[in-house]
Amino acid sequence: MLTRKELRQIYDRVGTWQDAQSFYEAPAVDRLLDHGDFGRARSVVEIGCGTGALARQLLADRCPETTTYEAVELSPVMADLARRRLKPWKDRVRIRRTAGAPPIERPDASADRIVIAYVLDLMPKSEVRWLLREARRVLRPGGLLCTCGLAPGQNRLARIVEMLWRIVFAIRPSLVGGCRPLNVRPLLGSGWTVQHHDHVCAYGITSEVLVASPRRSSEPSSL
Ligand SMILES: C[S@@+](CC[C@H](N)C(=O)[O-])C[C@H]1O[C@@H](n2cnc3c(N)ncnc32)[C@H](O)[C@@H]1O
Repeated sequence: MLTRKELRQIYDRVGTWQDAQSFYEAPAVDRLLDHGDFGRARSVVEIGCGTGALARQLLADRCPETTTYEAVELSPVMADLARRRLKPWKDRVRIRRTAGAPPIERPDASADRIVIAYVLDLMPKSEVRWLLREARRVLRPGGLLCTCGLAPGQNRLARIVEMLWRIVFAIRPSLVGGCRPLNVRPLLGSGWTVQHHDHVCAYGITSEVLVASPRRSSEPSSL
């Protein structure tokens, strides 16, 4: 995996080019937005907002007009792009730079949605587990974790594309933005109820879409 410093340098360079990834990301993001029940979200926290493209959709089309949005972002260039893109909602938006360590600087039970799109796939598994535990701490009862990201192929063509992706990643991870296909659902651990889980394949590239809520102690685990 790339270090946080290397990732920051890559995404500072990538800048607005990040939006070119939407050819395969947009169908999975749309699916996530459809299942994330954002119409009832009063506070949304996003980890790694990139250029703010997903946040713009949330604030313009999906969330109530009073919803607050907070993001943490590793790359200062991305954070600035997101701030500019989200200017129309600046009174409700806060974008903070982060050094990238998983603790989410929010009180317990203080957010309705935690959104993580195409970020877990560039973290080591130990960090993914840590960040998911943090998401559970920060979500209010009834809140939702909403994630999507690069995933292993689910059919023959997609498995070939996945193999090629992994070869490029092994040779030069920066060429694929430091991302590798990852199954997030098995990393959730107990303590979650999965509300929605599926895969979306666009141009042979597979994404996992996962929506889960912190499990109340009386509920059985869905894992
Ligand atoms: C592949 S891009 C995805 C951006 C955006 N979420 C999207 O779907 O277009 C990954 C983003 O996560 C940021 N990032 C990487 N590691 C991070 C971390 N540990 N904490 C916060 N942001 C991070 C990168 O700077 C980059 O903007």
